[in-house]
Amino acid sequence: MIEKRGDIFRLDTKDTTYMFRITRHGHPEHIYYGDRLTGTDPEPLIMKHTIQTGSSVMYTEDDPDYCLDTLTLEYSGIGKGDYRHSPAEILMPDSTYVCDFTYDSYVITEGICPPADLPAAYGETDECRTLEIRLSDKACNVRSSLFYTVFPECNIITRRAVLYNDDDRGLRIRKLMSMMLDLNAGPLVLLTLDGGWIRETHKHTRPLQPGIFVNDSTTGASSNRHNPGIILHAPDSGEDHGKAYGFNLIYSGNHYEAVELSSSGTVRVMNGINPHCFDWPLSAGESFETPESVLTYSSDGLNGVSRNFHDFINRHIIRGEYKDKERPVLINSWEAFYFKFSCRKLVRLAGRAAKLGIELFVLDDGWFGDRNDDHAGLGDYSVNLRKLPGGLKRLGRKLSKKGMKFGLWFEPEMVNENSDLFRDHPEFAVRIPGRRSSLGRNQLVLDLCNSEVRDYIVRNVCSVLDSADISYVKWDMNRHTSDMFSVHIPEQGMFFHRYILGLYEILGRIFKARPHILLETCSSGGNRFDLGMLCYSPQIWASDNTDPIERLKIQRGLSYFYPPSTIGAHVSLSPHQQTLRRTPLSTRFNVAGFGVLGYELDLKHLTPAERKEVKQQIGFYKENRILLQYGDFYRFDEMLQNRTNFMTVSKDRTEAVTGNFQILASAAPETEIMPLTGLDPELRYSVKTIPRGLSVKGFGALINHLLPFRIHPDNFILRMIDRFYRMPDCVEEYSAGGDTLMQGIRLNDQFMGTGYNNKVRMIGDFGSNLYKISAEQSAL
Ligand code: GLA
Repeated sequence: MIEKRGDIFRLDTKDTTYMFRITRHGHPEHIYYGDRLTGTDPEPLIMKHTIQTGSSVMYTEDDPDYCLDTLTLEYSGIGKGDYRHSPAEILMPDSTYVCDFTYDSYVITEGICPPADLPAAYGETDECRTLEIRLSDKACNVRSSLFYTVFPECNIITRRAVLYNDDDRGLRIRKLMSMMLDLNAGPLVLLTLDGGWIRETHKHTRPLQPGIFVNDSTTGASSNRHNPGIILHAPDSGEDHGKAYGFNLIYSGNHYEAVELSSSGTVRVMNGINPHCFDWPLSAGESFETPESVLTYSSDGLNGVSRNFHDFINRHIIRGEYKDKERPVLINSWEAFYFKFSCRKLVRLAGRAAKLGIELFVLDDGWFGDRNDDHAGLGDYSVNLRKLPGGLKRLGRKLSKKGMKFGLWFEPEMVNENSDLFRDHPEFAVRIPGRRSSLGRNQLVLDLCNSEVRDYIVRNVCSVLDSADISYVKWDMNRHTSDMFSVHIPEQGMFFHRYILGLYEILGRIFKARPHILLETCSSGGNRFDLGMLCYSPQIWASDNTDPIERLKIQRGLSYFYPPSTIGAHVSLSPHQQTLRRTPLSTRFNVAGFGVLGYELDLKHLTPAERKEVKQQIGFYKENRILLQYGDFYRFDEMLQNRTNFMTVSKDRTEAVTGNFQILASAAPETEIMPLTGLDPELRYSVKTIPRGLSVKGFGALINHLLPFRIHPDNFILRMIDRFYRMPDCVEEYSAGGDTLMQGIRLNDQFMGTGYNNKVRMIGDFGSNLYKISAEQSAL
C-alpha cells in the first residue's frame, strides 16, 4: 500500500500507483500517477533535467541543472525559482513571502490521521494507511506536513497539508492549499460542474490552455455556482474509456481549485480553502489544518472515476446508522402547500401518501414562529399552535398511526429581522456596525463564529427534536453570506473558515448524539452539495428544480462525484412550477428513481389512474431500492442530442435498471440503439420494459383513429376515461448474453403517425422508459 525504496515513495491502490521522490535538495518531486505498475524501475518516468534552461532561476549556484520551475512537485513554495501558481502564500516570521519547505522525515501510520476540527474520511486500520511527509523551512522555524491516506479498495488517495509555527514570531497564512500536484500526463481536458439556483451542476469541459483556470466559490458555502469536484481527463477519454483524474474536497465553505498548464506542458492542480478574504494569523506554537482533498485515477474513463468516488463516499464518508441502509421514500409538504397548511391538511396528505407506500412524511417550512411567508419567523423554533394545535407531538402521533415516520425542516443558520430571536439578540446576526446589511431571501446569517449562537442553535434544535418522535431532519440554508464581520474572531480574514468550523461543530453536537435521525441537508436546493456535508448528512437535496428534464442534467452532473444514495430526487406536479413544462408522470419517476426517491406534491391532485401509477412506481422502487441507491451507476457518451441514458448495475452484476430518456421527439427518428454496460459478458440476461400506461387524453383528437366512433377530445366521457384508465404502452423483451447486450439494443420503432400497434413505442417529447435487466436463473 505504501512503500519507501531509497528516495522514492510509492502508494499503491487496487488499480493505481502514485509515486514521488525526495530530490537531492529535499523537495518532494512527483513522478507518476496512473495505472498500477508492476515493476519497480521508475527511471523512465522521472522527468529529465540534463541542461540548464534559459530565463530561469537556479535553486543553488552549485547545481545549475536544478530548477524548481521545471520540476513536477508535490507541493511548492514561493521565491526560490518556481513561478507557477503557488499553493502556499505565507507571510513568514521573517516578514518575507519566501518559503521553501524541504524534507525532514516521514511516518507511516495504520489507518487514518484525521484533522482535529474538520470532517474527514474514516476507515479501519486494515482498510487504509497514512503517510506523513514532514518538511520544514530551514530559514525560519516553520514546519509543514503533507498527509497521504491510501484507500486501496476504492482507488482513492486523500491528501492534506498542515502548517506548524515553531517560531517565536508570528506568521500569517494568506493561502494554504490542501493538495498540489504537478501532472506530467500529456494534454488534458478540465471538467467542472457549474450553475446557479435551480440549474445546479451542469457539466462543462474545456481543453487546458496555457495559463490558470480557477474553479471556486466565494459565497460562504461550496455553492451552486461551481462544485468543488473537478476532473482532468485525456482529450480522447469518454464515459467508458480513457484516462481521467478526479479531485474533490471535504469542505463546505469557500473552495478553490486551480489548474495551470505551464510553459513546459506539465499541469499543476491544487485544491483547498479559497484564499479570497482569507488571512489567518498563526502565533508561536500554533498550527493550521487544511481540509482533506480526495484524489482518484481511472483508465476506465469518467465512469471509472465516478465509481471510485461513489464507493469511497459510501464506505468512508457516509457514517452512522444510515450507512449502507436503504433510504425511505418520503413525501415533502413544501410544493404541496408551501406555507399554507393546517394539521388536518398535513394528516390527509400523509394518509394518502401512506396508502401509496410512502414511508416518511416531511413537514417543510412554515411550522414555527410567525412564519407564514419568508419575511418572518426564522430563528424562532417554537411550534405555531394555530397551524398545529397540540404541537409536533400530536402531529407525530397522527403520522405514526398512519404508519408514517416524521421528518422536520429547519433553517438554523439564519434569522429574519422580524423574529423574536432578532429582537432579543440583534448581535447574533452577521452585520457590520454602522453599515446597512444586505438581505438574501429577507434574512440574515447567524454568526456561527460566536459560541453563544452555536449554543443557542444546538439547544433550540435539540429541544424540538426531543419533543416528538422525529426520525429525519431537512437542514436548510437559504442565502449566500454578505457583510462578513464578527467580534468573536481576532481577525476578519478568519470569518469564512470559522463560520464553517462553527457549522461542523453544531452538526456534530446535534446529530452524533441522535444517530437514529436521518439528516438531509439542503441549501436552496444544491447550494452546498459537497463531501463536508456528506460527513454529517447521508443525503442532500440536489435542487429545488424537480422538472425531470432539467434534473437529467443536474443529476447527471452530480453523478460524476456523488453516488445516487446521496442525491435527493422528488416527483412533483406537471406543468412544472419553474419551467411550466408538461412531462409524463412516468418520466418524473424514471429520473427521480435514480436517486433517493421522494414525492413533493399534493396527492389530492392525482387522478385514480395516476395514484395507481404512483403506487406501482413506489413498489418498483422498493423492490429495486438497493440497486437504485447503491448499485454501480453509469452514464453514456451521448450520441444523439435528444437522448440520455442512465444505468445502475448491482455489485454482483446479476441485476440492472436502465433508463432511456428522450428530450424532444424527432420525426421519423434514426434507429435507436439503447446502450448497456457493466454487465457480466459471460452471463445471460433477460431485459424487459417496465410497463407504463399512456394517458388517453394525451392523444387529443387522434384517439378517433383508434375508436369505431367519433368523440370530441375534450368530451366529458374521455376525461372520465382518462381519470381511471391508461392505455398500455409497448413492452419489449429480450434474452441474450451480457456481451451481446453490451453492443446495445436496437429498440422497436417509435410512433410516427403511420399507425399504432403494441410494438410501437409511444414516447413523444420528454418520454422515457425504464428496463429491468436480470440474470437468468439458469445462468447463475
Ligand atoms: C428552500 C429549499 C426548499 C424548501 C424551501 C422552504 O428553498 O430548497 O426545498 O425547503 O426552502 O422555504
